Amino acid sequence: MSRNDPDDVAVSAIAPLEPYVVVLFGATGDLARRKLLPGLVHLTQAGLMPDFRIVGASLDPLDDDSFRNLARSAWDEFGRRPVPDDEWAAFARRLTYVDLTKGTEELASRVGAARDALGGTPRYLHYLSVPPSAASTVIDQLWSAGLVGRARVIMEKPFGTDLASARALNAMVQSVLDEEQVFRIDHFLGKEAAQNILALRFANGLFEPIWNRNNIDHVQIDVPETLSVEGRAGFYEATGAYRDMVVTHLFQVLAFTAMEPPTALAPDAIGEEKDKVFRSMLPIGPGDVVRGQYDGYRSEPGVADDSNTETFVALRCFIDNWRWSGVPFYLRTGKRMAEGARIISIAFKEPPRSMFPAGSGVGQFGPDHLTFDLAEASRLSLSFYGKRPGPGMRLVKQSLQFSLYEDQAHEEVLEAYERLIYDAMMGDHTLFANAKGIERLWEVSQGLIEEPPEVLPYAPGSWGPRAMHGLLAPATWRLPFERRWRGPATGA
Ligand code: BG6
Repeated sequence: MSRNDPDDVAVSAIAPLEPYVVVLFGATGDLARRKLLPGLVHLTQAGLMPDFRIVGASLDPLDDDSFRNLARSAWDEFGRRPVPDDEWAAFARRLTYVDLTKGTEELASRVGAARDALGGTPRYLHYLSVPPSAASTVIDQLWSAGLVGRARVIMEKPFGTDLASARALNAMVQSVLDEEQVFRIDHFLGKEAAQNILALRFANGLFEPIWNRNNIDHVQIDVPETLSVEGRAGFYEATGAYRDMVVTHLFQVLAFTAMEPPTALAPDAIGEEKDKVFRSMLPIGPGDVVRGQYDGYRSEPGVADDSNTETFVALRCFIDNWRWSGVPFYLRTGKRMAEGARIISIAFKEPPRSMFPAGSGVGQFGPDHLTFDLAEASRLSLSFYGKRPGPGMRLVKQSLQFSLYEDQAHEEVLEAYERLIYDAMMGDHTLFANAKGIERLWEVSQGLIEEPPEVLPYAPGSWGPRAMHGLLAPATWRLPFERRWRGPATGA
């Protein structure tokens, strides 16, 4: 995004990228299968990969062929379109695998072989799709294997599990790598719709003048999921909804929604403004939070019988600066909920006085809203009161909506991980989180982490424990929507 041309993808496509050896740590894991391997295939198809080799790395005893088969079945299950056999064969030839139980020398030698196959002095892109507890071990291994020079390193969240561990991890990372080499990925920032928040706010004169406490009543960032922990209990038990989703994705998106206009569309300028939002956040205490656990979670394989891990969290937080003082931000996310959605909803204040008589419908359908749908095919809606056609003066909620499908370029959308892998290869930090901001987020979370409120049960397929309503009363959660989005269905 430091490229200032509106035809971003087209410009990027011709920007020369140096050859890369991509080393995928956690190559047999869920994320690699769902997103990373299919993403690398799609970037190749889209002509956005440089000359490359991919080395899969994990503790599983695979060889090159079985890794290629794994990549193929990941594409068959999660890929977006068919790949002709010859194209697949050309892709698969670039894949090799290293079993990390065989030690650092094996890692160095397998990556060295990929480098030699490319020739010259390619760059490395190390993608650490590993749990926080394993991140420092991998970085140590990279150092010992001599794979740190000319490397860019993508690190997956959560970046630590509390302030102390985040600080320790950052210190460890920075003792081995320059901050410039590190890309802390938060895939919500790679979503087209998240970037559209920046476009909408800062490319128009229409919204920014009302984007403040004088006109905005509250903001909701709501990401319910219908998924359960889907075989990730080992990871999820130690993480929970707050660490998995809030301290990462929801807060990062909150920063885009709340930040001051950056001086430039550039990593430092955007990072500074996001950090200022995080610095202005008031600490989150147990009284601001409702934690929930769906009935049946404790019977999932790998989950403790007395697990206290939350699969749902709803909270209220405040950004104590001139723009937002007193405006609540309500965040919610959870597993096995009634619907899957990812919305940011800005609720505007109601007019101070109304000439419309009782019974006209004014105010009856809640406040005016600007809603961003962060689904893959992003959408935007502005709802307001208007007159119902016909005699008399009946007011109804109407809306202006825009869907990405209406843009001719919608076929060119990159999935969030693809976009961010590409940006990391370009060395562009704009859409990545930084160490300072992350530490501050753990700092504001410390009270909650130290004294978490008890987890309340909720029925799978519901919207969460009843207590969540008390957090924002007399306002109400925006979801479920009373009215459907217009236009084609999207991959929510
Ligand atoms: C991941 C979380 O980071 O984001 C998952 O670990 C969650 O638990 C996922 O399901 C949601 O991402 P998306 O892009 O599918 O909304």
